[in-house]
Amino acid sequence: MTTQLESLRKHSLVVADTGDIEAVARWKPQDATTNPSLLLASAEDARFRHLVERDMDRVFVGFGCEILKHIPGRVSTEVDARLSFDSAKSIEKAQRFISLYEKAGVKRSRVLIKLAATWEGIRAARELEREGIHCNMTLLFSFAQAVACADAGVTLISPFVGRIYDWHKQQRKVDDIPIEDDPGVASVARIYAYYKKYGYQTQVMGASFRKTGQILALAGCDLLTIAPDLLEKLSKAEGDVPRKLSPEQARAQSLDKVSLDEKAFRWMHNEDAMATDKLAEGIRRFDADARKLEKLLNSLPNSGSGSQLVYELRP
Ligand code: E4P
Repeated sequence: MTTQLESLRKHSLVVADTGDIEAVARWKPQDATTNPSLLLASAEDARFRHLVERDMDRVFVGFGCEILKHIPGRVSTEVDARLSFDSAKSIEKAQRFISLYEKAGVKRSRVLIKLAATWEGIRAARELEREGIHCNMTLLFSFAQAVACADAGVTLISPFVGRIYDWHKQQRKVDDIPIEDDPGVASVARIYAYYKKYGYQTQVMGASFRKTGQILALAGCDLLTIAPDLLEKLSKAEGDVPRKLSPEQARAQSLDKVSLDEKAFRWMHNEDAMATDKLAEGIRRFDADARKLEKLLNSLPNSGSGSQLVYELRP
């Protein structure tokens, strides 16, 4: 009998959403994603303490290098949330990450730079893509963000399912929303259909899942980044997973083409109360966790020593 995880892998590229290197080694995904909150959780874990004894950029790259030892594909490393409204500084930070990776022997093709999908983040990504630095746009909640990212030619977007679901659950004062009515699932399905219908190359990676039903409802999405606890559940559940999203079904949908300049982007995004709340909150949360991580680093005896990166990728 096949498991849901095996079956899902036939339809979507499964990515591990974690900073836990042992979990990456166990699940052997193609790609992996991290964010400041996931890396804070790992940095607080005694198993990974040796990766934390250096400055923040090196810590992020250090975790990325360790993760890359266990996967054949790409790791996503996120730019400081405090730069979310500063294109020039976001570009500089991304270039520094890439230079640290390259010094450690990692080619840029194996790294995705994660940036918040603000207008400034999307402009930064457009420039970085022109330099061959590939980007993964995160904290993506609105259709406006998705349209602007595709127009900017970014490699990949991470629309968040779970945080949209969380917002609507809170608004409706309910404990659960069934999959058929789940606004997070519907948001990713709409973006996927729009991209495929209009032939965009930007890939869609569903992220931020709260339950396996949300993942299964998006089988066929280009990529799905899944936390270890949900990978575990999928690997224990038996059964075939039918494909839900496909380019053929997308092309048959009637969806108008949208074109957005900065003013239209800001207006359309602002019209979406959920997306406005969640983007702002997401930036605050990633920043808060990055600051906690910074505090942890500063409390360590050898912090800020600027020691050389010692990670080497084993073949
Ligand atoms: C991955 O790229 C995202 O950062 C992650 O899926 C967010 O998940 P969360 O909403 O559970 O924090």
